[in-house]
Amino acid sequence: MSWWSEETTAVVTGANKGIGFEVVKKLLKLGLTVVLTARNAENGSIAFDSLRRAGFQNVHFFCLDVSDPSSIAAFVSWFRLKVGVLDILVNNAAVSFNAVGENSIREPETIIKTNYYGAKLLTEALLPLFRRSVSVGRILNISSRLGALNKLRNPNLRQTLENEKLTCEQIDATVTQFLEDVSRGTYEKNGWPENWSDYAVSKMALNAYSRVLARRYDGKNLSVNCFCPGFTRTSMTGGQGTHTAEEAAATIAMLVLLPPEKLTSGKFFMCVEEPNKIISRL
Ligand SMILES: NC(=O)c1ccc[n+]([C@@H]2O[C@H](COP(=O)([O-])OP(=O)(O)OC[C@H]3O[C@@H](n4cnc5c(N)ncnc54)[C@H](OP(=O)(O)O)[C@@H]3O)[C@@H](O)[C@H]2O)c1
Repeated sequence: MSWWSEETTAVVTGANKGIGFEVVKKLLKLGLTVVLTARNAENGSIAFDSLRRAGFQNVHFFCLDVSDPSSIAAFVSWFRLKVGVLDILVNNAAVSFNAVGENSIREPETIIKTNYYGAKLLTEALLPLFRRSVSVGRILNISSRLGALNKLRNPNLRQTLENEKLTCEQIDATVTQFLEDVSRGTYEKNGWPENWSDYAVSKMALNAYSRVLARRYDGKNLSVNCFCPGFTRTSMTGGQGTHTAEEAAATIAMLVLLPPEKLTSGKFFMCVEEPNKIISRL
């Protein structure tokens, strides 16, 4: 028997399309109640309506731009009033302005603000609303192997982020340092990741934040992990990839619904392409 029911509530960000939309659909199919959020009201409503038309009743929609703290505050107020408690948070929303194979830096502040601070601020605001009894709360941050620490060529930066006593302040200082290096034109020389640099740093910070949060909640009924879906066919990759968003979503649903005794925290999971569905833990 599964541990969840229609009382179990999940929030998914950036869910009007791509992997986020498929995660919402998969969790609904499995019988949970899901809050679909999207930054664009019209696109979010279209996605929500399509799920309602497909017969899913336990789906809600709220317009949430994770890069905007006032939008996060409005969402959390609404959630507290209308839904109340939370079991699962999937921080999926993200941006990248590079095409596959391209490595320019464009709008790095937007990328950091969305992919790192967006997930962090939303998480911090929702932490008091996690259900504490019945089961273990679950946060899954959708990340990328581009943000793995071995992509950092600067040993000092790597040492900082690897430190077991790492703090949120140090992560924030690290992304600030990256943005300063970008504006000075010194980011290549200073050993930041070479591939999709701004996006990679945002995901590196997200991974580091996940480890800090997992440590903060160790033994307190909250599991915090990261997952890289691999090269998935969505608009972020211009439709290229080795598998569909639906396949990536099936793995995400499996991870967030693991039975309490199998849950880990502070881990980074990823799909290995051959064979497609295997998960490895870094
Ligand atoms: N596809 C891959 O190969 C791949 C690989 C590794 C990791 N990932 C990660 O997987 C996750 C999903 O990406 P995807 O491939 O499904 O890309 P996608 O199709 O481009 O979807 C990204 C979603 O995030 C939303 N979003 C962007 N900025 C937002 C904001 N400020 N507030 C709220 N939502 C926002 C987008 O909304 P709009 O429609 O309004 O733009 C869209 O719904 C991301 O975290 C991505 O980094 C993807």
